[in-house]
Amino acid sequence: MKEPVFPEGILSLNRSSDVSLAEQIYRGFREAVRKGLLSSGTRLPSTRRLATMLGVGRNTVNTAYDLLQAEGIVSIRTGAVPRIMEGLPLEGANFEKVKLVEGPGLSTRGMAMSCNLRGDGWAFRHGALQPGAPALGCFPYEDWARCMRRAARLERSPDLQYQNYTGLPSLKRQLSLHLAAERGVRAEPDQILITSSMQASLSLLSLVLADRGDVAWLEDPGYLGAKTAFHTAGMEIRPLAVDEHGANAAAMDVSDHSPKLIYVTPSHQYPLGVRMPLTRRLALLDTAGTSGATILEDDYDSEFLFSGRPVAALYGLADEGRVIYLGTFSKSLMPGLRIAYCVVPSKLIDPLTQFMRNMGCAANVQAQAALAQFMDGGSYQKHLKQIRQIYEERGALLVETLRQRLGNRVQVDIPTGNVQVTMVLRELIDDVALAKQMQEHGFAVSPLSNCYLGENSKSGLIIGFADATPVQIAQGVETLSNLLKEAGHETASP
Ligand SMILES: Cc1ncc(COP(=O)(O)O)c(C=O)c1O
Repeated sequence: MKEPVFPEGILSLNRSSDVSLAEQIYRGFREAVRKGLLSSGTRLPSTRRLATMLGVGRNTVNTAYDLLQAEGIVSIRTGAVPRIMEGLPLEGANFEKVKLVEGPGLSTRGMAMSCNLRGDGWAFRHGALQPGAPALGCFPYEDWARCMRRAARLERSPDLQYQNYTGLPSLKRQLSLHLAAERGVRAEPDQILITSSMQASLSLLSLVLADRGDVAWLEDPGYLGAKTAFHTAGMEIRPLAVDEHGANAAAMDVSDHSPKLIYVTPSHQYPLGVRMPLTRRLALLDTAGTSGATILEDDYDSEFLFSGRPVAALYGLADEGRVIYLGTFSKSLMPGLRIAYCVVPSKLIDPLTQFMRNMGCAANVQAQAALAQFMDGGSYQKHLKQIRQIYEERGALLVETLRQRLGNRVQVDIPTGNVQVTMVLRELIDDVALAKQMQEHGFAVSPLSNCYLGENSKSGLIIGFADATPVQIAQGVETLSNLLKEAGHETASP
């Protein structure tokens, strides 16, 4: 609340402001001088008098006068009344000591590292049917809270100090057991680095393993997070064609530029959802071996494929050092947990540990301790079993509704895993515009064409189902059908 005080129009104190009263008095006088409301030589009230007039402590006025004196605005001499300094260039004077010529600008590296390669359609969206989003309603909050409480009591543990930059040993042990049993990935715990997300793993590996101008092969269509990581590391990105058997390395020309990194999602191709058969896997390892490339295997959702036993990871087929295996808890638990991991060859442990320390990007220790508990006590397996069934039902419902409403205009398969499905439109339409319209109606779906690197992109939408209710699915598909009709793309009648 503002209260006018003497000198009228010069000082008005706001007692509920975050700015101290001394600072307000100082600024008030300074402004009055700048505007010419107080002229050179003007007498000011003594500190005692001004303190009484303003209803503030004397120290407050002293502090303000000290500041004004330090800036050469007010002259204070013992035994004399304070005055505005003689000979000041008053009106329009600028007393700011530091003039900001311009705000901080971005470096060339900063510009490359802060650009949004996901395009407009992906910008920070929230809403129903969001791809990548697990069901928060299925999360076992009670079990998790129990583990977090125990983790919060890790009193005086050295783990809470500056150390374990690459993750908590207890979580690495759990992951080592889990990966061997579920994914055929044999890794010593110290080969596992815990990061805050798959995105963080991809970025740090690209920065450490590749030089500017080195070539990265990226599935086309592929994951924009990998594209972002390669781009920010200054790599040259080459599209790696994908067909019904996944990425086809044999179709690539290695004669001009060998790849340094090859990014693939062999268990469940993102975004098309196909699985890479053994012959393709072996051919891929062969190409990587002869060209000296390192494969980055993104196994983002394979712990909860719905039907059948998931095929073992590519990592298990490769010679030591050829494949770096990447996983995340974003899909099986939640993105907000901010825990992911990668399995690296022994010779990279030391440099990557130092790099993570240099970058200050280690994951939260208490969350890691809770997750280790959660896995050790069987809660993680129990949760996976539960979501496999729920997600399978939701995925099937979404696909059946899409097929019913949109008929043969779309091609969409019942998902075998994951939290989203890719619907391909048989006609080439502007799917970015379509996704934006869906977003205006509250559905945060993403355009498929954004995932393509080359010219032969397909139109479609990537639609999340894991967190969707039957009503949201029905409304989302209804909205999509109406938008397609309005745009002149006829759809099947229900
Ligand atoms: C193929 C793929 N990899 C990784 C991720 C994300 O992992 P994270 O949340 O740990 O960055 C996603 C998210 O949707 C994804 O689709």
